[in-house]
Amino acid sequence: MTVTVIVGSQWGDEGKGKITDLLARDMDMVVRYQGGNNAGHTVVIKDKTFKLHLIPSGIFYPNVVCVIGNGVVLDLAGLLGEIKSLRDAGYSLNNLKVSSQAHVIFHYHRDLDAAQEQQHEAGRIGTTNRGIGPCYVDKFNRRGIRVGDLRRSDIFRQKLDWNIKEKSFLLNNFYKLNVNYDIDEIEKEYLGYFDLLKGFVVEESSALVNEVISKNQRILMEGAQGTMLDVDHGTYPYVTSSNPIAGGACIGAGFGPQEIDEVIGVVKAYVTRVGGGPFPTEIIGGQGDDLRERGGEYGTTTGRPRRCGWFDGVVMRHASRINGLTQLAITKLDVLDSFETIKVCAAYERNGSTVKDFPTDISRLEECKPVYEELPGWRQDITKLTDYKQLPTNAKKYLDKLAELSEAKVSLISVGAERGQIIKL
Ligand code: GDP
Ligand code: IMO
Ligand code: MG
Repeated sequence: MTVTVIVGSQWGDEGKGKITDLLARDMDMVVRYQGGNNAGHTVVIKDKTFKLHLIPSGIFYPNVVCVIGNGVVLDLAGLLGEIKSLRDAGYSLNNLKVSSQAHVIFHYHRDLDAAQEQQHEAGRIGTTNRGIGPCYVDKFNRRGIRVGDLRRSDIFRQKLDWNIKEKSFLLNNFYKLNVNYDIDEIEKEYLGYFDLLKGFVVEESSALVNEVISKNQRILMEGAQGTMLDVDHGTYPYVTSSNPIAGGACIGAGFGPQEIDEVIGVVKAYVTRVGGGPFPTEIIGGQGDDLRERGGEYGTTTGRPRRCGWFDGVVMRHASRINGLTQLAITKLDVLDSFETIKVCAAYERNGSTVKDFPTDISRLEECKPVYEELPGWRQDITKLTDYKQLPTNAKKYLDKLAELSEAKVSLISVGAERGQIIKL
């Protein structure tokens, strides 16, 4: 058993990038298994901040092979941009591999994403507008174009032609837009991207993964988004179009579930959410604004202000079960340093009854009210601490409460954005 999965336990942006970078040092391989450049994973090394959208957060260790797995949807121009900025920063990227089975995002996916959002004024999902949903639709509808298809220009042309015809019809006739895609131009553009990327492309990415497993080497699976954004287990339809949960790793990288050794849930010490959809413990104004400013809660990908709220134990219990969490990495504990008291949601109340199992039907969820417990803050700067024993008693009590509600044990506590700001248990 050699696989560790890192999974977001809430609505994304829990600090998965930081935790992946931290653990990648001892790994042989890091794999991104789902999502696309809707993700924004931040890694801070000394005074340098890197924002990764597609490239696994293990990339800063040249001896760690970093794989963009088959489950990812790929914006080729975005990937090339990321490669360039990392190379400019001095990283060779000789350790990057891209699965030929990953699906490619085209202009029409982004246009469809935007058009769908425009039409749903009331129930807008608030997507990142990266074309993620429409690209996954094509994948599951078996009309998608995979990276490997770009190797064969005749196959690519045929698939592109069909897709352009279908999407143009939809955009122009249903969404009443006026698109006019030039197939020659798009073909040339994407073959150009492929030409620049082909050195990274691997034919059988799951074979690479399984080779590492069979040698008993160590692999880290880096989830994007979070459990509550999972298309099956999140707050549907206010979710992303993939399975960020731990089970998604087997599909998006291609290995058997029995190989999973540890599942680390990355958990923010409070909760944030970007985009629309239910958020039971959201704080509007006041302390919500405090959390946003102190935590720098602005989207890594879109720059949008994140909605902020208190820690939600019902969400965490759900995340713990759905993912089979074996450990928790609590992040951003330092953001709570100056709070006099801190609330945690222990359960919901609905029509006079206590609800402990997260209702994934959002109409039932909307009837739920959080039941809070209030804990005393520690009012002390913890950003320089590296030993659990040094933590103030109230911070320890807060962590104990989070672990109790999450039904999992804490193994890492992050007290700042920088790589070294970590307490290991
Ligand atoms: P991800 O999408 O889960 O990788 O998370 P993001 O990178 O989108 O958002 C997390 C933000 O919090 C980034 O700006 C990180 O640099 C920052 N961060 C991560 N851990 C900590 C921490 O323990 N304390 C503070 N203050 N910031 C952190
Ligand atoms: P990381 O990996 C937070 C949200 C969007 C929107 C919904 C659907 O950085 O945690 P999409 O573009 O995926 O169709 O949008 O999902 N979303 C994220 N929120 N962090 C992310 O990624 C997200 N990726 C998508 O805001 O509500
Ligand atoms: Mg993020």
